[in-house]
Amino acid sequence: MLLLFFFLVLAAPTSPEYTRPHPRPLISRPHKGSESAPQQVHISLAGKDYMRVSWITEEKSQSIVEYGKMPGKYSVAASGKESTSYHYFFYTSGEIHHVKIGPLEPSTTYYYRCGGGGPEFSFRTPPSAFPVEFAVAGDLGQTEWTESTLAHVGGKDYDVFLLPGDLSYADMQQPLWDSFGRLVEPYASMRPWMVTQGNHEIEIFPIIYPQGFKAYNARWLMPYQESNSKSNLYYSFDVAGAHVLMLGSYTEFDADSDQYAWLLADLASVDRSKTPWIFALIHAPWYNTNAAHKGEGESMRIAMENILYKARVDVIFAGHVHAYERFTRVYDNKADQCGPAHVTIGDGGNREGLAMTFENPNPSISMYREPSFGHGRLRVLNNTHAHWSWHRNNETNSVTADEIWLESLSSSSRCNHVFTSPNDEL
Ligand SMILES: [Fe+2]
Repeated sequence: MLLLFFFLVLAAPTSPEYTRPHPRPLISRPHKGSESAPQQVHISLAGKDYMRVSWITEEKSQSIVEYGKMPGKYSVAASGKESTSYHYFFYTSGEIHHVKIGPLEPSTTYYYRCGGGGPEFSFRTPPSAFPVEFAVAGDLGQTEWTESTLAHVGGKDYDVFLLPGDLSYADMQQPLWDSFGRLVEPYASMRPWMVTQGNHEIEIFPIIYPQGFKAYNARWLMPYQESNSKSNLYYSFDVAGAHVLMLGSYTEFDADSDQYAWLLADLASVDRSKTPWIFALIHAPWYNTNAAHKGEGESMRIAMENILYKARVDVIFAGHVHAYERFTRVYDNKADQCGPAHVTIGDGGNREGLAMTFENPNPSISMYREPSFGHGRLRVLNNTHAHWSWHRNNETNSVTADEIWLESLSSSSRCNHVFTSPNDEL
């Protein structure tokens, strides 16, 4: 009997095994208001002290945003260009409005309404100095798991949401872009959502729609012009003391591409005394030990890794793989104390489910990996220290499963190389 007791104790796992959930069904969010009612409201940073308010109406209406610091009292009104719509086969989108408002004060709540009427929304501008907190989740989709992730994101305060690609999973079914816009509105109308494209945004159809990104570019206008980019598919922005690069995994990135030239110019203009941290977002990960999408980010890594390494980028976030994985600081497939840490966070909750299979044995540069839905939080405390945490969706709870302190590379005397041109010595 005693032997049996010892056997049971030794055989028992040290912690209860987490039971991984199945994909959950799609959520539908129909429009309930009038044809002129603003819907799918979301905001994005649009250059220093400015915010872009975007929304859709089913009929033509004014592109005007009224706003102020008191509920119901709108002291300022701003107009945008005339609304646009697009066609995709037999689908015609609603009228898409983008209005830039500002200058706005930092860390301030503004109340606003769109189109000269309708419901009141509010948002808070990010701080002008540290601390600042980013919430991060990719491959969102619009399932009950997405709803769970968003509830966890919204359940704790943050300043800016970062999405490393794959938003709606509409996959050419354009009404799904609309229901996605309605699903995220309660969150995306309150905090800036900064997104970059994933493969599910491409929506190319040969001959008829050869360029791709028709819905994405029309609906999710990002501050590319404000950051001297020629394309909505790559841009940058500053928040407090962080410079954030939003790169395009599905547009050209080779040395002779516009994106490459823009990236060099953008990095050369970064003043690390003002923005000591640099973060980058891509979609297809450059480092990945999951069986899913193995090697899909490799050509971009070969083209651009040395630039981001020389620029001393602190962290590179990716999506695409529906799991969480965190790597140590790496460069050229080896641990390197002056390279960026890589994080795959494509676990927002889309309809395709989780990427369950990781390669074994685990390479030493991969520090934590887990196929679960969840989201991440990057809290930058000051010029030198930031805290990264990953929060698994445990059904209705959000559980911190991985966390680490990061030290900025700009504060490291061994790594404080200043980027001026691509020909710099490493
Ligand atoms: Fe993807």
